[in-house]
Amino acid sequence: MHKRTLLQAAAAAALLGASGLAPAQDNVFKIGLILPMTGQQATTGRQIEAAARLWMAQNGDTVAGRKIQLIVRDDTSLPDQTRRLAQELVVNEKVNVLAGMGITPSALAVAPIATQSKTPLVVMAAATSSITEASPYIVRSSFTLPQVSVAMADWAPKNGIKTVVTLVSDYGPGLDAEKYFSERFAFNGGKVPEKLRVPLRNPDFAPFLQKVRDLKPDALFVFVPSGAGAAVMKQFGERGMDKAGIRLIGTGDVTDDDQLNDMGDVALGVVTSHHYSAFHPSPANKKFVAEFMKANKNLRPNFMAVGGYDGMRVIYEALKKSGGKGGGDALLAAMKGQIFESPRGPVFIDAQTRDIVQNVYLRKVEKKDGQLWNVEFDVIKDVKDPGKSK
Ligand code: DHB
Repeated sequence: MHKRTLLQAAAAAALLGASGLAPAQDNVFKIGLILPMTGQQATTGRQIEAAARLWMAQNGDTVAGRKIQLIVRDDTSLPDQTRRLAQELVVNEKVNVLAGMGITPSALAVAPIATQSKTPLVVMAAATSSITEASPYIVRSSFTLPQVSVAMADWAPKNGIKTVVTLVSDYGPGLDAEKYFSERFAFNGGKVPEKLRVPLRNPDFAPFLQKVRDLKPDALFVFVPSGAGAAVMKQFGERGMDKAGIRLIGTGDVTDDDQLNDMGDVALGVVTSHHYSAFHPSPANKKFVAEFMKANKNLRPNFMAVGGYDGMRVIYEALKKSGGKGGGDALLAAMKGQIFESPRGPVFIDAQTRDIVQNVYLRKVEKKDGQLWNVEFDVIKDVKDPGKSK
């Protein structure tokens, strides 16, 4: 009996080997990319998926002998969906890496799954500081709101802005932006008479902007997630805020390259701080922007795209460095400490925090050849997430 079972097993193994089925299956390296492809955050999904596909078109789909399979799932930016999809990808698809995460609640919903299954989770969009602390398997290729907000709080008081009202989306990244901007601005001698928070879902900015108009600060500091900036800009203009002498400042999410060119002249002169502009003048970025636009019907890449593109690089390099084996712990170890030149400039995945260290730029919206761009005029180099030191 025992002998027969062994023989049968040997025969079965030979069959599988001959058909090539088993090795082919083992050879596939799966990346489960969960993104909001529909709904309020759809531009984030569109940008990141396009960037991931561009990375693969440029770098091939075989790494260290493994065939890369990208599995894209739409979570419609609802965290319950993100969690369900992540579970399905880990249990049924047996993905080697989870990636994407369009908004903070999605990343936080998936963190326990990454920990339990020892699957690296590459956060390509979500930007609340605390996300990387939610699981030791999280690595981030996007940015954090504290990282980019502090630069604006240093720039504003040196440029005639003494009072600022803050207006943020009422969830993780907005609360980070509000706290890190206002604390640093106050430290620099500025005044924040009012802090306003708008709901993430279906926000109506009008009543908040009216309030800002009545308060008449030197500037309004805004954080809204990618995709919502155009609505803020439009209502800011319609209410004549700029004409009333109130400047608009913020993190670069509000002058998002995905929408900027359609915002019109009200956006001209708006100063923001951020880690990526499609106008960044490096050769690496010029190549990235040209090839992204060529592959995507002239869509301009935004900071989400660059997070997706660099996240793919981190995964590819980790697979190479770990010799194509693809185990969660080996991949994670090989993701830590990576240094490379991104389209945004030089970046570094801090081995201790698993968060990205990068330059933060001050930029002003200008018209060049009839198009609106975030034109960089100053840089703070190698900025770590200030949220990690608390
Ligand atoms: C987050 C989402 C965004 O679209 C953005 O621009 C910044 C942060 C987030 O949910 O973390």
